[in-house]
Amino acid sequence: MKSKPVRQSQTTITELMIPSYANFGGKIHGGIILSLMDKVAYAAASKHAGTYCVTVSVDRVDFLQPVEVGELVSLHASVNYVGRSSMIIGIRVEALNVKTSIVKHTNSSYFTMVAKDEDDKPTEVPALILQSEEEVKRFIESMRMKEIRSKVKEEMDDAKSNIEVARASEVLKNERCVIAY
Ligand SMILES: CC(C)(COP(=O)(O)OP(=O)(O)OC[C@H]1O[C@@H](n2cnc3c(N)ncnc32)[C@H](O)[C@@H]1OP(=O)(O)O)[C@@H](O)C(=O)NCCC(=O)NCCS
Repeated sequence: MKSKPVRQSQTTITELMIPSYANFGGKIHGGIILSLMDKVAYAAASKHAGTYCVTVSVDRVDFLQPVEVGELVSLHASVNYVGRSSMIIGIRVEALNVKTSIVKHTNSSYFTMVAKDEDDKPTEVPALILQSEEEVKRFIESMRMKEIRSKVKEEMDDAKSNIEVARASEVLKNERCVIAY
């Protein structure tokens, strides 16, 4: 299988934020941005894999600044890391106010996508050709984040399975809740 450079699958989607995307506060719904992020992640992953791909995991998404109606939102996606069938896609979202030319960085995230074969089974993807220090840095960063995520998952599973409800009144004494049963 031929390796592919990062730039071959780099993808940018730009979309105008129309009024129907807004919430009751007049700002763009977070869900609209998440949906666009999923699309751009899919585009980059499937270009790299050369197959159909699925979203397996979405990293933490923090909305740093609101997006306004009328802004042009651009989502830049790059394959940062590949495993056997999985790919970590880095996404950066920016909103351009066309009148002022001000560009806001609204959020960034990492989506894990898996390549699927004709039988819907995970299938191997091409290795990634890293052509700059930045691309090497991103690959290593993703490897480390993957390790941290799996440790955090173990700790979360452990934390969830070891909740002593009998000690709730003590554990929750400084929290803003009332036990009412
Ligand atoms: C994710 C999925 C492909 C895993 O299938 P599986 O038979 O368990 O396959 P594997 O265990 O071989 O995992 C395949 C790859 O996914 C990765 N993976 C699986 N679960 C993961 C998770 N929660 N987070 C990150 N990576 C994950 C594995 O590490 C492996 O990567 P690698 O091939 O690079 O080493 C399967 O569960 C699936 O199809 N889920 C539904 C995805 C979907 O429909 N998404 C759209 C939601 S609407």
